[in-house]
Amino acid sequence: MSTTPQLLAISDLHVGHAENRPILEGLRPDNPGDWLIVAGDVAETTTDIEWALGLLKSRFDTVIWVPGNHELWTTSKDPVQLRGVRRYEYLVEMCRRLGVLTPEDEYPVWTGDGGPVRIAPLFALYDYSFRVDGVHTKQESLAKAQEAGIVCTDEYFLHPDPYPGIDDWCRARVEETERRLAACGPDVPLVLVNHWPLVRQPTRILRYPDFAQWCGTELSGDWHTRFNTATVVYGHLHIPRHTVYDGVPFEEVSLGYPREWKPRGLPDKLLKPVLPVRVAP
Ligand SMILES: [Fe+2]
Ligand SMILES: [Fe+2]
Repeated sequence: MSTTPQLLAISDLHVGHAENRPILEGLRPDNPGDWLIVAGDVAETTTDIEWALGLLKSRFDTVIWVPGNHELWTTSKDPVQLRGVRRYEYLVEMCRRLGVLTPEDEYPVWTGDGGPVRIAPLFALYDYSFRVDGVHTKQESLAKAQEAGIVCTDEYFLHPDPYPGIDDWCRARVEETERRLAACGPDVPLVLVNHWPLVRQPTRILRYPDFAQWCGTELSGDWHTRFNTATVVYGHLHIPRHTVYDGVPFEEVSLGYPREWKPRGLPDKLLKPVLPVRVAP
């Protein structure tokens, strides 16, 4: 048992996959004061999302969720057929009912080990600007990916309504997010949490480079240096790893699909501590 509460994170639980459900059911705090960041892609249907977040909230002191692309899909299997912004608002209302924090709440301050830090759950989306070399527009980029047979499922299920495109929705989210981050002030360092990586570098190792256009926006590329940032937590790529950019740690904390985690095996500790834990002298 951990002697002091910790700030923990996980993403891409994808409980729509039967083999990931017992993994979620096995997630428990070491200490009753542990907080858990859930960085998107919990599931596709509102029923699964509610089950998963409700279970986690019944166990962890505080649960903080940001949406991934999968929560935002409108599929025929879902009793809730809302699209785009209205679907996001429905999920935020669901979280309020469950007592789970979202990007629409005041950013909570963690005062335990490694703190104080202000946790900023973000929903910055993507805008097709992580393009391969020589490609200059969204249209060109999408056409090139299609030619290569790489089309993200978002193109079928993630609707931007009432915005004309996901990139328009992304720009609106970025503007609002920058305003809120600037208003935080520099005194308490931030933990920035976003489903998609905030910088381009982590997408450089994708097997299919054309897929990067669905993975973030150049508009957030300087947030970790412009705002006083202790660490950045993200998922989406299903490539769990620790990297450092401009002196700031970035943690990809995804579980991923069974076909991805099975070959490498599950780590001993599925929940990643976000902050360095003080060691008693
Ligand atoms: Fe995912
Ligand atoms: Fe994702």
